[in-house]
Amino acid sequence: MRKAKMILDRDYLIADIDKRLYGNFIEHLGRAVYTGIYQPGHPTADSEGFRQDVIDLVRRLDVPVTRYPGGNFVSGYDWRDGIGPKDKRPKRLDLAWKTTEPNEVGIHEFAAWAKKANTEVMYAVNLGTGTPDDARQVVEYANHPKGTQLSDLRRKNGARDPLDIKLWCLGNEMDGPWQMGAKTAYEYGRIANEAAKLMKLVDPSIELVACGSSNSGMRTFGEWEYEVLTECYDNVDYISLHTYYGNRTNDTNDFLARTMDLDQFIKTVVALCDAVGGKKHAKKRIQLSFDEWNVWYHSNQRNEEIYKEQPWGTALELLEETYNFEDALLVGLMLITFLKNADRVRIACMAQLVNVIAPIMTNPNGGAWAQTIFYPLMQASKFGRGKSLQPIITCEKHDTKSFTDVPLVDAAAVLNDDGGLTIFAVNRSLDEAAELTLDLRSFGKLTLKEHQVLVHDDLKAVNTEKNPDNVVPKALKPEKGAVVLPKASWNVLRFEA
Ligand code: AHR
Repeated sequence: MRKAKMILDRDYLIADIDKRLYGNFIEHLGRAVYTGIYQPGHPTADSEGFRQDVIDLVRRLDVPVTRYPGGNFVSGYDWRDGIGPKDKRPKRLDLAWKTTEPNEVGIHEFAAWAKKANTEVMYAVNLGTGTPDDARQVVEYANHPKGTQLSDLRRKNGARDPLDIKLWCLGNEMDGPWQMGAKTAYEYGRIANEAAKLMKLVDPSIELVACGSSNSGMRTFGEWEYEVLTECYDNVDYISLHTYYGNRTNDTNDFLARTMDLDQFIKTVVALCDAVGGKKHAKKRIQLSFDEWNVWYHSNQRNEEIYKEQPWGTALELLEETYNFEDALLVGLMLITFLKNADRVRIACMAQLVNVIAPIMTNPNGGAWAQTIFYPLMQASKFGRGKSLQPIITCEKHDTKSFTDVPLVDAAAVLNDDGGLTIFAVNRSLDEAAELTLDLRSFGKLTLKEHQVLVHDDLKAVNTEKNPDNVVPKALKPEKGAVVLPKASWNVLRFEA
């Protein structure tokens, strides 16, 4: 048995956790919208065409905020195509995902779905082919009460009250050569600043996210953040980070060490934000919105075949990852990393929510089910509200192909609003359990009430529609004293005073 020790003190706070750390993302991509959240005629569809089986699963995740409508899609999207009578809306080519967009779902429908799913909308404006003025107009359409052409048009289209969207993204991945209307850092920083000014003049209560790099491997990473923020620092609130990991070489030790990279990525962006702030003598701090993160690699080859089979189709089975058990472990480790950086990472959106690189899958002719990665996300969202505590962990470290000094056990601790304590812990060892000794020095008497564990003999085990409960959390008998974390496991330890 391996050994690990964790010291926690209730006064050693990292930060109050912003509940938006458990956000998600729906893009007009593949079957996220059509046959995902929206499928008129499906046996569970409500009068507006929204699948209730999907809404039920989304509500189990308790998603505080959902980014929409893209992603790469947004960089060629005109929000006006998605308003007014559905039969008059244009069908358009979506050049991002080489599909045909029917525009049956637009800003009204998404806002209605969000209400039912109990989530806030995080709306991305098009700064690829779009302009700052388009961005101004959609804010006015969505949020201005009444008495202008755009706000009255919204009312005519069925929303008497403002949609009241509080969080907005200034485009998507504008550094990426694949992006429609990609820009240099200076070009983007300027346009983001002008869009931000206009949007906040219309509604000063909104918060804005500027695009950071598409990932930390971009040639311009670092330089991009610095230059973009130099142009728009005063008018934006957050900078975005995106990252996806994969186990392409089937080296699970290396795969489970990827959060070393994630932590470094976050800390580098924090340093860049503060460097620009320092240079500007700014009082304000730019915070981080990690608005795309997940595991993504299983489905890449299949996409190419789909494009050949159904050129310019609608609701294609794109980016449909079947997640396995080890993917859920990495998702758990990513959540732990966000919690440990909760003072600066205020928003995080798993990409994405339904069918497309998603915890929830649907069969258009059948039901909906939860993939392996659903469970760590659900448990973090449910039990990870409150204050993030600074954990001091002592354990063995190992080297992998890409990383050195990888801790065997990684963990985050949350002082819950109800006075309880929750620890999320992953044992990275593929061969041995780890005994975790807890030193909860300042807590007085605490009792371990619940030990939930996600564990499976087969790292590649998956959930399917026919076998949806293959990888699900199980309750272990709560131990007194040291806690045993099974080999390769995600653990949720819940203590009560
Ligand atoms: O989430 C899938 C895609 O990944 C998004 O559209 C894009 O922003 C990213 O490259």
